[in-house]
Amino acid sequence: MTELVVRRLLIDLETPFDRHWCGGDAFRSALFNALSMSFPVGEQFFIDSVRNGFKALPAEKQAQFKAEVQGFVGQEATHRRIHGLFNAHLEKQGLVNEWEPRARERLRLMEGQDARHWLAITAANEHFTAIFADWMLRNHQWLDGSEARLKTMWLWHSAEESEHKSTAFDLYVALGGDYEWRIKWFRRVTVIFLSDTLRQTLRNLQRDGTLWKLGTWKSAASYLFGRNGLVRQTYKPWREYLRRDFHPSQQETGLSERWLRDNRDAYTPVGA
Ligand SMILES: [Fe+2]
Ligand SMILES: [Fe+2]
Repeated sequence: MTELVVRRLLIDLETPFDRHWCGGDAFRSALFNALSMSFPVGEQFFIDSVRNGFKALPAEKQAQFKAEVQGFVGQEATHRRIHGLFNAHLEKQGLVNEWEPRARERLRLMEGQDARHWLAITAANEHFTAIFADWMLRNHQWLDGSEARLKTMWLWHSAEESEHKSTAFDLYVALGGDYEWRIKWFRRVTVIFLSDTLRQTLRNLQRDGTLWKLGTWKSAASYLFGRNGLVRQTYKPWREYLRRDFHPSQQETGLSERWLRDNRDAYTPVGA
């Protein structure tokens, strides 16, 4: 049982920011922008999954999950709102979110399906988010040279993703979700998530006019495959999900807690 605090982030998201806001780097900006474009639709789906899963629980189990579900919904709703503001600037910069309509189309197929399918998809996506978040908190030097408010936004989101990474997984298990379906959805989500991320990143670079610049590809190579690179450092934790006895809490590192403790002046707890 995790206690999830909803936090209001105290940053300015009205002032426009640079196209290459991520430390002046075209590739990293395009990749993070792609991820941000997926959040409003994705996080709404996660909220709906967790709400529907909660409703499907017997009363005695509902009592056990009530506060955690409220915290989860509050955190994801705040992320959606903040990234909506961020994405509005991307639109003004001439970028086009092609991920969102594609995801909406796909999610329509889930209507009327068992709550456990929704939760298995959510838990798989949350695993991706959690390992990315942990990696981000560990390697925040990749955000160096970015405006402080944007760095805060990404690290706050990462810290909360790491904090609530068990909620969908635990609901799935509480509803009797089995190992086979968990893995089936995880494999599908992996293919879909990675190809959507790649497609949207390439489209962002194309619209930015930096797709065919050598610097873009050099940056991509070191960011993804270098010593502290994303792919290199997240492959192992990604694979852990395949273990039969896996639980998200096994990947706890304390980085989220530390960031939230050290950056108290960046947010106010809601309802505290
Ligand atoms: Fe989120
Ligand atoms: Fe999340």
